[in-house]
Amino acid sequence: MDGQSGTMSPKAFQAIAALAKEEAGLVLTQGKATMIQSRLRKRVRALGLTDVDAYAKFVTSREGEAERRNMVSALTTNVSHFFRESHHFDLLRNLAFPALIDRATRGGKVRIWSAGCSSGQEPYSIAMSLLAMSPELAQRDVLILATDIDPNILSFAQAATFSEQQVAGITDAMKKSFLTRTGEDGKYQVNAPIRRLVRFRELNLHGDWPMRAKFDVIFCRNVVIYFDPQDQAALWPRFHAALDSNGWMMLGHSERISDSALNLFTSVGPTAYRPVQAVPGTAQVKR
Ligand SMILES: C[S@@+](CC[C@H](N)C(=O)[O-])C[C@H]1O[C@@H](n2cnc3c(N)ncnc32)[C@H](O)[C@@H]1O
Repeated sequence: MDGQSGTMSPKAFQAIAALAKEEAGLVLTQGKATMIQSRLRKRVRALGLTDVDAYAKFVTSREGEAERRNMVSALTTNVSHFFRESHHFDLLRNLAFPALIDRATRGGKVRIWSAGCSSGQEPYSIAMSLLAMSPELAQRDVLILATDIDPNILSFAQAATFSEQQVAGITDAMKKSFLTRTGEDGKYQVNAPIRRLVRFRELNLHGDWPMRAKFDVIFCRNVVIYFDPQDQAALWPRFHAALDSNGWMMLGHSERISDSALNLFTSVGPTAYRPVQAVPGTAQVKR
């Protein structure tokens, strides 16, 4: 390696790739080496190291253990948008939310999980959809658990402050109801009733899931795409077990349930699934 602008050595690349797989299940291919190197440069500078090779040596050493969370944070792709893949929100508004709102209004619990929530647009979009349908849910037992492996992006999500460009996907009516201008150039803050429905937690999907309650809806979108096929396959039975028998599961547009778990889920729309034992006769959409 020859300085910060030089090329990461194959040995350093392999060390970083092995660690990213072990820590987060991320698959880093050689074709992404330039991108990986540029993502790590900030960490190289922050630690006062000479180059990415020195960083690889440090982060794989015992002394570098605490740095691994920052490495994972630097390597994850955090792109997200409000109401991304809006067909999922349409489907839930039409087929799932009416029954869930009814249950919550009668005093029951509603639990939704945004797994790999990144900067928060996904859980906040879910909360906005629910409160737009029934403002009184703000006083009911409704909770959206929003988890991610990346502690830095969770801090951003929790701050709930977004730029004009980031809120572009929100309708004017929802902006009016759920956002407030902060006074800081073009920034918006998500209003408290929406924020109160969402709980952010750090969670590695390949580690333990401490949640005991079943979820009515699970979003795990644009996350498993970064994992290898075996790690993806290991997740579906776990999601199935975490999902209420009458629940709904949403994946990202380029993701699919692995063949080995197809017996556990029924497809009810583009990248929308229900567990196989879902109550017969419940409205389902055709593919
Ligand atoms: C591209 S974002 C997806 C955000 C959102 N779900 C959406 O579709 O807009 C992927 C997120 O998955 C998270 N992630 C990656 N590996 C993870 C893991 N092993 N456990 C939990 N989250 C992970 C990343 O930190 C990142 O925030």
